[in-house]
Amino acid sequence: MTLTPATAAVRVRRAELSDLDDLVALEQATFDSDQISRAQFRRHLDSDSARVLVASANRRRFLGTAMVFFRKGSRVARLYSIASLPQARGKGVGTALIEAAEATARQRHCHMLRLEVRTDNHSAIRLYERLGYERLGPVKKRFYEDGSDAFCYAKTLD
Ligand SMILES: CC(C)(COP(=O)(O)OP(=O)(O)OC[C@H]1O[C@@H](n2cnc3c(N)ncnc32)[C@H](O)[C@@H]1OP(=O)(O)O)[C@@H](O)C(=O)NCCC(=O)NCCS
Repeated sequence: MTLTPATAAVRVRRAELSDLDDLVALEQATFDSDQISRAQFRRHLDSDSARVLVASANRRRFLGTAMVFFRKGSRVARLYSIASLPQARGKGVGTALIEAAEATARQRHCHMLRLEVRTDNHSAIRLYERLGYERLGPVKKRFYEDGSDAFCYAKTLD
């Protein structure tokens, strides 16, 4: 895998209990609706059907997070959520998290990673498309709790 220097400095690891405060704070600062609660994060940390990832770099131990869901009997994984700290954006954190989410999905024998994204979330859409995600199917109307619509994207994993 070829990594840009910016991405190479970012490491991605599995989230631990000690990340809970950072996970909840970033979630609350980032999303106005469809927020993952502390209890949900806690459950996902231990769950076989979820993988919570955390990006760090040098001495900054928490720069962002992504969550991948798996379903028994399905080879399609779902990137449920991704966020980087506002001050860390545009430096490769999101890219590293998506690459790690893909690697995790491959380890779980999934051949596809899919996701939903708000139709007006242009920065996320640009990032997904740059990384090879393709838009699938019709817009999902009122997909989010606040009534916003979603595009579906997916990428076939080699
Ligand atoms: C979407 C999101 C996760 C992207 O995270 P990020 O850390 O900014 O992602 P990256 O830095 O890897 O990529 C962002 C852009 O910076 C560019 N970039 C990466 N490293 C760079 C560097 N060192 N110098 C300049 N640009 C760089 C990338 O090429 C990318 O450009 P593009 O948008 O034209 O593709 C972030 O904006 C975010 O948390 N948004 C709020 C939450 C959200 O909307 N989540 C998605 C829906 S669930």
